[in-house]
Amino acid sequence: MKTALARKALACAGPLILVNGDHPLAREAAPELEPVHPRWPQVLLERRAARQLTACIRAVGGGEDIVPVSGWRSRAEQQAIWDDTLRAEGEAFTRSYVARPGCSEHESGLAIDLGRAADEIDFIRPDFPEDGACGAFRRAAAGYGFILRYPAGKEGVTGIAHEPWHFRYVGAPHAEIMTAKGLVLEEYLELLEEHPPRRPLRFRSGIYEFQICRLEAAEGEGASPRWGGCRQISGDNRGGLIVTRWR
Ligand code: DAL
Ligand code: ZN
Repeated sequence: MKTALARKALACAGPLILVNGDHPLAREAAPELEPVHPRWPQVLLERRAARQLTACIRAVGGGEDIVPVSGWRSRAEQQAIWDDTLRAEGEAFTRSYVARPGCSEHESGLAIDLGRAADEIDFIRPDFPEDGACGAFRRAAAGYGFILRYPAGKEGVTGIAHEPWHFRYVGAPHAEIMTAKGLVLEEYLELLEEHPPRRPLRFRSGIYEFQICRLEAAEGEGASPRWGGCRQISGDNRGGLIVTRWR
């Protein structure tokens, strides 16, 4: 049986954590980082996210055209980006395109900004078009667990302007479900509130059958009924645990 403290830490970690202006990142959520590719040793992501990103870029043949611009950022780095952008571009622009320090997904190691290879790449708003290898990446991303985190039309929900370059790793099958249903992470986690262990969300992908449910972290793992097959648990950074089972 996990202690209350361990359950609280679990609720703040994992690929489904919500990080936004209302849900700052917990200090304890220290990701295990690795470079996304030997060519860009300074761009780090959480281990699984890094491997899936590399696999997706390779699958679409984007090795020459797609550049990882910004991955994991320390709190100090996010603060410096916030301060510099505020000075150079003003408050409205900064609030639209830079998350407040402590509230940036980049600090979780689960977010990556991608750009099209060019002599000059804008660090805050890289060009990542709809066509060519970039477009192919967009279409393949969900299959590798990535979502476009700040789509047009959802600014009122995410609190961030449309960012065609910012992708967030949430893992499978969540990225596929969110993409198919047109939900941003805030909306998906709200949907999962309607799916406690006794009424899981069911989803089929290829040969796999998934069941997804949410329980309050305080209820602990014991509240999740057995279903057989494999199981993954992620916190949602809103006091809940998302249990994903598949067979
Ligand atoms: N550009 C995104 C919102 C960030 O700064 O985390
Ligand atoms: Zn970003």
